[in-house]
Amino acid sequence: MSIIILGIESSCDDTSAAVIKDGVLLSSVIASQAVHEAYGGVVPELASRAHQQNIVPVVHEALKRAGVKKEELSAVAFTRGPGLMGSLLVGVSFAKGFSRALGIPMIEVNHLQGHVLAHFIKEEGEEAHQPKFPFICLLVSGGNSQIIRVNAYNDMEVLGQTIDDAAGEAIDKCSKVMGLGYPGGPIIDRLARQGNPDAFTFSKPHIPGYDYSFSGLKTSFLYSLREWVKEDPDFVEHHKTDLAASLEKTIVDILMEKLRKAVKSTGIREVAVAGGVSANNGLRNAFCEHAEKYGWDIFIPKFGYTTDNAAMIAITGYFKYQDKEFCAIDAPAYSRVTIK
Ligand code: KG4
Repeated sequence: MSIIILGIESSCDDTSAAVIKDGVLLSSVIASQAVHEAYGGVVPELASRAHQQNIVPVVHEALKRAGVKKEELSAVAFTRGPGLMGSLLVGVSFAKGFSRALGIPMIEVNHLQGHVLAHFIKEEGEEAHQPKFPFICLLVSGGNSQIIRVNAYNDMEVLGQTIDDAAGEAIDKCSKVMGLGYPGGPIIDRLARQGNPDAFTFSKPHIPGYDYSFSGLKTSFLYSLREWVKEDPDFVEHHKTDLAASLEKTIVDILMEKLRKAVKSTGIREVAVAGGVSANNGLRNAFCEHAEKYGWDIFIPKFGYTTDNAAMIAITGYFKYQDKEFCAIDAPAYSRVTIK
């Protein structure tokens, strides 16, 4: 009998549902929330209200596009955490209601684990290019920057992580102070393509081991910018492409330096990248250069699977379903949790 999983993701500001049948993606629907743009960041209360409005039509649409009736579902997989509590509660509560009404099991998914396993999402008729275990994954999102050794779908070991800000958070904040808009990642990415990455130099951290730090870079960026703007109020307008390119280069260099170290010491040459920041062109190019130079076998997700999506939750649910890893109806959402 086929295994059909409905995945639900609502940890931040995207309401998403996806259907996976026997490991193959049938549909993936994402409703993004434009309401936050005016505030330069996600407003938690507005996010949960938007999730409430979106969740039923998004799930309905995902089932419709998949051509699957809800009675045919084997289980419902949902993001349990980490994320914004009010946002998570919408998806978690919906999953509970759905599972109870249909009499099917619930599968809790760690959002970060989902990002890593996004590499196993397979579309119809597609040749699978998937990493083999064990592999190293650089997980870079708005809230996390981690180097993970992935031994199996349910066995992940964090080798290093940020001790303060995440890479995406630093990009978003620098974009905000330049008045460029939110989220900063795609804007900086676009501007950086036209700028000189060596125009400005920003400080890099000196943290031992495989851990990251981005708060020093952020502070040095803000401090330098303040001085430059004092001299020339139109400084950002005149230099935004060079500022974006230099900032992006610094962040990519910081990320790749620790990743190189981890790959070298583990001897694992299968290297993947995941999370929202993996959409960044500078980072993608750096991965390709490293593959050529160091003989890495690299795995870069499709753009649609880099940011938050329910397809990654459904595929994780598919793996867990086979091991009958179900959760209880009273499982609470959690706002903070590491990969384990
Ligand atoms: O994984 P994600 O969608 O959400 C979290 O779970 O955090 O990641 C969002 C982050 C934001 O910081 C956003 O600015 C960044 O990913 N991002 C990018 C790009 N697209 C999204 N950063 C750099 N370049 C991009 N093209």
